[in-house]
Amino acid sequence: MAGKGGWRILTAAGLLAALLSGCGKGGDDDTVKPKLDSLWAERLKYCSECHDPDRDPDYDGPDMSTQASFLAGLKEQDHSDYGDWNIGSDCSGVPFIDPEKPGNSLIMAALVLSYSDQISADHGKCDTSYSYHNDVSESFDAEKDADLISALKTWIANGAKDN
Ligand code: HEC
Repeated sequence: MAGKGGWRILTAAGLLAALLSGCGKGGDDDTVKPKLDSLWAERLKYCSECHDPDRDPDYDGPDMSTQASFLAGLKEQDHSDYGDWNIGSDCSGVPFIDPEKPGNSLIMAALVLSYSDQISADHGKCDTSYSYHNDVSESFDAEKDADLISALKTWIANGAKDN
């Protein structure tokens, strides 16, 4: 009996270890590189589920349906470029992607809590879109998505190039 119980505990511990190591590595995030191609394939292509004027005729924000439109629509653009976009975020004047400055790019604030807090504080406690993305499970988790966050940050720090 004792032997059987011990085997069961070992198996449970083994399964747990396997699960934890799988999560710790962040699954597919392992392969994400600080390049637009890689970021797109890993995650950004799914943003068009909402950010796509073809899917939603009432949508007046940036078109994220292709890599090219994603870059053109966000890099060095801000709220004033989308005056009709009905949005709760009021961090006006902060670029969606500020090349070489991830710490001043609203895309980081919209997806990552620590950037949201920082950018909001830097700009008169403006409201970012972080809580919206978090509510719909689109935000990036500091631990689980650490590789993805790091790759996005480095890509912007390197000038947000079309690479
Ligand atoms: C489920 C729908 C949905 C998905 C998927 C989604 N978003 Fe959004 N996003 C929104 C909405 C709605 C807003 C406006 C929220 C508000 O009113 O604050 C928004 C706002 C934004 C903004 C503006 C930020 C600001 O504070 O002004 C950016 C940038 C953005 N999203 C990027 C992304 C990126 C990048 C992805 C993919 C990783 C993504 N979104 C996925 C719905 C979505």
